[in-house]
Amino acid sequence: MSRWLVVVLYALAMAWVESAVVFYIRAIIHRLEPYQPNPLPITGGLGFAETVREAATLIMLVTVGWLAGRTWRSRIGYTLLAFGVWDIAYYIWLVPLTGWPHALSDWDILFLIPLPWWGPIWSPMSIAMLMIIFGSVVARYDSEATPLWPRRNSCVCLFAGVGIALWVFMTDSLNVVMNGGGTQQLRDLLPTWFNWPWFSIALGLMAAPVVDVLLQVARRNRVAQPPFDFDRWLNHFERNRENRAEPDWQAPCHLPANTIPPLLKTLTQFQLGDGGGPCSLIAFDAGRFRFSSIQSKRLVDAWFREEAEHSRLLGRAVERFGGRPITNHWSFTAFCAVRRWGGVRFELQVLLLTEIVSTAYYRVLHRHVKDAPVRDMAALILRDEGGHVAFHCDRLAHAVHSPNRIPNTLWKLQFWLSGFAAASVLWINHGPCLNPFGASTTEFYREVIREIGGFIRRLAQRREELASRHEKSERVTVPAVEVSA
Ligand SMILES: [Fe+2]
Ligand SMILES: [Fe+2]
Repeated sequence: MSRWLVVVLYALAMAWVESAVVFYIRAIIHRLEPYQPNPLPITGGLGFAETVREAATLIMLVTVGWLAGRTWRSRIGYTLLAFGVWDIAYYIWLVPLTGWPHALSDWDILFLIPLPWWGPIWSPMSIAMLMIIFGSVVARYDSEATPLWPRRNSCVCLFAGVGIALWVFMTDSLNVVMNGGGTQQLRDLLPTWFNWPWFSIALGLMAAPVVDVLLQVARRNRVAQPPFDFDRWLNHFERNRENRAEPDWQAPCHLPANTIPPLLKTLTQFQLGDGGGPCSLIAFDAGRFRFSSIQSKRLVDAWFREEAEHSRLLGRAVERFGGRPITNHWSFTAFCAVRRWGGVRFELQVLLLTEIVSTAYYRVLHRHVKDAPVRDMAALILRDEGGHVAFHCDRLAHAVHSPNRIPNTLWKLQFWLSGFAAASVLWINHGPCLNPFGASTTEFYREVIREIGGFIRRLAQRREELASRHEKSERVTVPAVEVSA
């Protein structure tokens, strides 16, 4: 970090020298603002000094990078860091010296070789930002043992981006040349429109190596957990098949008559949604998860067998109140479409969130619907769903993940937001059916918050547990290897 700070400090100081020199030159030619008639007047004697000064500036940036880095890659990284800081600070220092620029959209002449480059100052500054991020990441994470460098495809993107950016900066100059204009016309040129759509494309392409090295670093820091214990969960599902007392569907019903139609409506929809329809993983790439091993297939089948059992129980409840099962509903069609097209990883999260928000629903149902068989059914489903959610928690804890704070926080944020979205879809449909029983929206969302928060907490605990167990087992194996050697 201190090396990084020293390079930044050097670049900031160099930028001041650059700004001061530009201030002197612009004061001599009476052009503190570059965008004005006759922007490049001919002045004798300064040209040679200026050309050598610019070359000297580049040498200074390369040499400081050379001294700061340990590998050729980190040397380039530090050079780009210095270049980016120098470029941005140059504009910042010009403000107190010359009163220019007034805004990020002010035009500037960026370079003169081979033709004048023009652009609003935000354009070189945004490229400088990419240089700073790229340079900092490579300088920090590259080493002889673990090289860090963008891969071929992102380098191709970079070159394409640089080409487009150069074309954008020199478009007007090129037009002058193409139309047979001479040096004087090039000197007098004042562009009026910056091709920001093409520049944005160029910037996106130039960002490819930055994203590439960031992804490489994030992947490098990922933590691999011990293998998932399939047998534990297969045994769980096996045990759970026993001790399933069937609710007494013939028990007398004491519910007020006006509450039966809304109850029937919600139970009918749940009969389709909870284990009805295609009772399996249905994502286009579901095989990736389901057929990754024989045990994985057995586990998915055991899980969905319980879901089908929920549908059967709900079907009996529908029957009890004189209803008939439905085969489609808009919410179920949307649910299946999302699962099918989002890919299996996404489908697993959708199913997990559905189980979490359904738990909140069944809890509210169990609390308010005073009908013995319905309550027994809800209790049975709640027990199963508790197991399903715990299974997902264990599955996710075993998955490769990043321990870094930013990806973790982003994951939690999307999980909360998706959870609330799933809860809202559920409550829009089912809330009005449970309201006549005294269930409230606040009560439902309180349950949802408790369930999502609890899941995230348990996931973090399980990960820590696995990590410490992993560490201990490694500590045990290391001396054994040393002794045998
Ligand atoms: Fe279920
Ligand atoms: Fe479930």
